[in-house]
Amino acid sequence: MTDDTRIPVKPEIAKGTWVDAARFQAMTEEAARDPDGFWKKEAQRIAWMKPPTRIKNTSFEGDVQIKWFEDGVLNASVSCLDRHLEKRGDQVALIWEGDDPNSDAKVTYRDLHARVCRLANAMKALGVKKGDRVTLYLPMIIESAVAMLACARIGAVHSVVFGGFSPDSLASRLVDCESTLLITADEGRRGGRKVALKTNADEALKSAPGVKNVIVVRNTGGEVPMQEGRDLWYHEITEAAPRNCEPEPMNAEDPLFILYTSGSTGKPKGVLHTTGGYMVWASYTHQYVFDYREGEIYWCTADVGWVTGHSYIVYGPLANGATSLMFEGVPNYPDNSRFWQVVDKHKVNIFYTAPTAIRALMRDGDAPVKKTSRKSLRILGTVGEPINPEAWLWYYRVVGEERCPIVDTWWQTETGGHVITPLPGATVLKPGSATLPLPGVQAGLVDGEGKLLEGEAEGNLVILDSWPGQMRTVYKDHERFIQTYFATFPGKYFSGDGARRDADGYYWITGRVDDVLNVSGHRMGTAEIESALVAHPKVAEAAVVGMPHDIKGQGIYAYVTLNAGEEPSDALKKELVAWVRREIGPIASPDAIQWAPGLPKTRSGKIMRRILRKIAANETEALGDTSTLADPTVVEELIENRVG
Ligand code: WTA
Repeated sequence: MTDDTRIPVKPEIAKGTWVDAARFQAMTEEAARDPDGFWKKEAQRIAWMKPPTRIKNTSFEGDVQIKWFEDGVLNASVSCLDRHLEKRGDQVALIWEGDDPNSDAKVTYRDLHARVCRLANAMKALGVKKGDRVTLYLPMIIESAVAMLACARIGAVHSVVFGGFSPDSLASRLVDCESTLLITADEGRRGGRKVALKTNADEALKSAPGVKNVIVVRNTGGEVPMQEGRDLWYHEITEAAPRNCEPEPMNAEDPLFILYTSGSTGKPKGVLHTTGGYMVWASYTHQYVFDYREGEIYWCTADVGWVTGHSYIVYGPLANGATSLMFEGVPNYPDNSRFWQVVDKHKVNIFYTAPTAIRALMRDGDAPVKKTSRKSLRILGTVGEPINPEAWLWYYRVVGEERCPIVDTWWQTETGGHVITPLPGATVLKPGSATLPLPGVQAGLVDGEGKLLEGEAEGNLVILDSWPGQMRTVYKDHERFIQTYFATFPGKYFSGDGARRDADGYYWITGRVDDVLNVSGHRMGTAEIESALVAHPKVAEAAVVGMPHDIKGQGIYAYVTLNAGEEPSDALKKELVAWVRREIGPIASPDAIQWAPGLPKTRSGKIMRRILRKIAANETEALGDTSTLADPTVVEELIENRVG
């Protein structure tokens, strides 16, 4: 595959598109020349109680202050619900498709509004106020969207924790943001199995004493213990609550949510998004990037526990009055045709998923796809990790039958929404490239010294100026925000990704350049997995790196040094894998563990991860400079006993 493959804009898509090539050009120029004017206009896409007159007030220098629309007043739930009631009250807002193919549900905007208000009132009755933090630990059910919007309604800040995380991971997130309320469910369902959410939550709550109440959704009906005085059934407290709740007036810069994400060091950090800029960005990108048109059925397969679920299942689509599909299940249950069966069942027009799912389905061949119609599909999208051109082309040819443009959207929890991506009606596509920055995004590449590179180049991906959807701070730790994103290349936002820019200015994301792994599109810090491993009583030291993996993109490769006197064994390897699953969650399970009597270190004691990555990838011919190693024989030993 070369950069030469180009797929021009489809005339059928360009016709009636929101943004064609000329408009894209004009928007890009205007947003760069007059950001205040451009964003003042775009801000009108959401509902304001008091429209903003001050638009952009941002600085990437010094203390790094980012403010957008700072004198505006709004409530995010009004943009997603109230303002649609008159025109589309009876339109379906959310389609829920269960793990079991025989279960589904549809919720109209009117119905969703009532459900949100009831839960909002019930939370108020429990004493939850504007600014309080509420943690959600929920499966992919309608109540997840209801709970997010109900928090927004009363000005509470939600922190959604992915249902696959362990009790420990949940506990540390509850404690970090000092949540007083947790909303969970009895159990979740995934791929025909049950997920013990309430049991996990009970375990977590032992170390999160600040939580005063737990609201429990009865989902599977499984038996769960309820603690008197603390735990409340969702259906009981919402049934009794009034169906109207006045939306809390929020300043544009009041927090909307916190979402924990992994970085290269330390524990996950609470990425903080505020109300006005985030909502404008979620709506702007959802409309233009998916070319969303009135009446279309839109499906993003992500989990609401990740930022993709926040921006592209809930806030973006609902702000735009879309019908958004929410899927509880997995791509291969009951069989590997499921995605396409759901597409046909609900006549999905826009479909957005992750490269890891595409690669897994591609491995199973074309037949499971081809036995479905997929005629309703118009636009396809991917997110979460680089997509290899082979998988891109399979998605394009087999799933979309060369009819549907693919938007490969590059973005991050930190960016709030898409930042580098094609627009279906404007951008010539190249398989494997996220193409061009959106209007309003000033992307760039810098070398190791921070020098801005011109033209064709490869380097570190940075963003030179603020855009409305940008995160504002790390919750309770602004210094960490500055250090993580603005210290490496002062005055610029550093993404942590590397990229190449071709002669047409197209970006090709090459992956993380820091110690963050991307396993099946799930972001994980090597430091987190290492600290889970060394917490095991038999482990002295651990170093974790990524290794290439056909389906997951990256797999987790762990080098483990045992305490003196401990015997390595396969049983112990299994025990360590189970240990990490319990400490963090199944997504962090190591794919390979290698016993390491010693780790390659510099004379000052720093682990040389570059070498460990090469060994894990089986690229031992090209280890690079090893002259600074304290003990070179360690490396030979590791190469000899490489796993896999
Ligand atoms: C990676 C997910 C290549 C990237 C929205 C980024 C991608 C990290 C793409 C953020 C893409 C996301 N092409 N890489 N289209 N989309 N990434 O915070 O490494 O979970 O830094 O946000 O995913 O992961 P996060």
